[in-house]
Formats: sequence, structure tokens, C-alpha cells
Amino acid sequence: MINAVGTPQSLLLLGGTSEIGLAIAENYARQRSLTVTLAARPSERLDAAAEKLRGLGATVRTIAFDALDLDSHQKVVDDAFAEGDVDVTVLAFGLLGDAEQAWQDHATGVELAQVNYTAPVSLGIALAQRLRKQGHGSVVALSSVAGERVRRSNFVYGSTKAGFDGFFLGLGEALRPDGIHVTVVRPGFVHSKMTEGMKAAPLATTPDKVAEVVVNAVRARRELVWAPGQWRLVMSVLRHIPRPIFRRLPI
Ligand SMILES: NC(=O)c1ccc[n+]([C@@H]2O[C@H](COP(=O)([O-])OP(=O)(O)OC[C@H]3O[C@@H](n4cnc5c(N)ncnc54)[C@H](OP(=O)(O)O)[C@@H]3O)[C@@H](O)[C@H]2O)c1
Repeated sequence: MINAVGTPQSLLLLGGTSEIGLAIAENYARQRSLTVTLAARPSERLDAAAEKLRGLGATVRTIAFDALDLDSHQKVVDDAFAEGDVDVTVLAFGLLGDAEQAWQDHATGVELAQVNYTAPVSLGIALAQRLRKQGHGSVVALSSVAGERVRRSNFVYGSTKAGFDGFFLGLGEALRPDGIHVTVVRPGFVHSKMTEGMKAAPLATTPDKVAEVVVNAVRARRELVWAPGQWRLVMSVLRHIPRPIFRRLPI
């Protein structure tokens, strides 16, 4: 159960090698003894992530998870809940890919849509049923400012995040009567393996800083947060800029 100061005892990380997801798990593991399930494609990176969390005192197990294998999602969720309640579930898997290739190459664009939108919907539906049965729990959905106002420079990724964002805001409303809480998180540019080699954007941040935002948001049962928080103000302006001007902005 989540304790009086809002710290969970058990966490499921869907995207068990995500740098942001792991920073969230590590933040919690430093606060309290934590049971973590890392759901990810098997890899050395996954093994190293599990070892690092064990080094922080967490009990860790791994589950094989491929976002593209939609038929396996129910089993992934069932396995994750098989050994007891899950207090916090973080959806942290995702693809950025090459923005120009994504709208010109069929396979690339479809993979991005499936990993970033179809798979989260598939898992969100499976999760919702388990959480309602369990009667408590928080879900953290890693969205992006890119989905808040989709721009030409990465519109395939942005459109997947717009759909993702809308789905999890809606799921939060649907689960509210059951006492299940959903936090949608909109980070800007985060230094992680997803953005490796890219020029940092303004307000760039780190996985640890995003983790702090997430931990505070879950504690306060916030529904929607930006990381860093200044993005909220920036986006409230960008959202309303007329298209002819918006397309001329260097973003
Ligand atoms: N970094 C940013 O600037 C930023 C900004 C806003 C939002 N976000 C979002 O935050 C989330 C976490 O990103 P991050 O920065 O932590 O990136 P990351 O370290 O690259 O993590 C993304 C994870 O997604 C996993 N993944 C990709 N395709 C998968 C598939 N088919 N099946 C299972 N897992 C798959 C990868 O697993 P493998 O190890 O198997 O490749 C990887 O661990 C993502 O949803 C991202 O869109 C990131």
C-alpha cells in the first residue's frame, strides 16, 4: 500500500529499461523498501537496471514485455499482479525515432504509432480491470509536451503522444469513482538514451529531475503535471498561437 507520506511499497515499470522510469523507481527505492517489477525486452541493460535497484535494497523481478506484441499484454499485466498488489504502475516505454523517416516510411510510422499509442491503450485497458479489482493504485503515464501542440518537426511522435495523453486523462476520469488515480506527465526535452546525440532544447532536464516531479505528483494525487513545471506556462502560450505564426517558430 502507499503509505501516509505517499510512498509505494510496490511498483510496476512498463518499459523497464527507460531512464526516466528507472529514475522514478530508484527515487522510491531510496525512500522505502520497494518491490519492483521491471517489464521489458530481455537485455543486458535490463539486467544492469535490476542489479542497480537491488543495490538500493529493492526486491526486483523482471517480466518479458514487448509493446508490439499486443496479444501478450493481458498476460504481462496478470503476471505483474500475480504476487500481490501493485501500488504504482509507470508506463515509460516509447519510441522517438527519426521524425522525417516516420512520416515517409510506412513501417517506421506504424511502429511508432503502435508502440506509443496502441500498446499503451491495450495495457491501459488491462491495467484498469486489475486496479479496479484491487481497489487502489496509481498510474503514471509519461506523455510529452510534443503532444500538447503537435508541430511539423516531429508530428508523427507528437500525434502519438497527443492520443496517449488524451487516453490516460480520460482513463483517470473513468477510474476516479473507484479511487484509482492517474497522473499524466508532460516532460519537455530530457537527457536520456532517447535523446542521445540530439541538441538539447530549452528547459532541458534530467531523468532524476523528472522523477522528483513524478514522486511529488503521485503524493499529491495530481492529474496532470509538466516537467519541469515551467512548461505549463510555456505551453499555455504556445497552444494558442495561430498556425501561420506557429509554423514560423524555430521548434
Ligand atoms: N527523453 C525525452 O526527452 C522525453 C520527453 C518527453 C517524453 N518522454 C517519454 O518518456 C518515456 C520514457 O522515455 P526515456 O527518456 O526514459 O527514454 P528511454 O530511456 O529511451 O526509454 C524508452 C524505453 O522504451 C522501450 N521500448 C521501446 N520500444 C519498445 C517495445 N517495442 N517494447 C518494449 N519496450 C520498448 C525501450 O526499451 P529497450 O531497452 O528494449 O529498447 C526503452 O527502455 C517515453 O514514453 C518517452 O516518449 C521522453
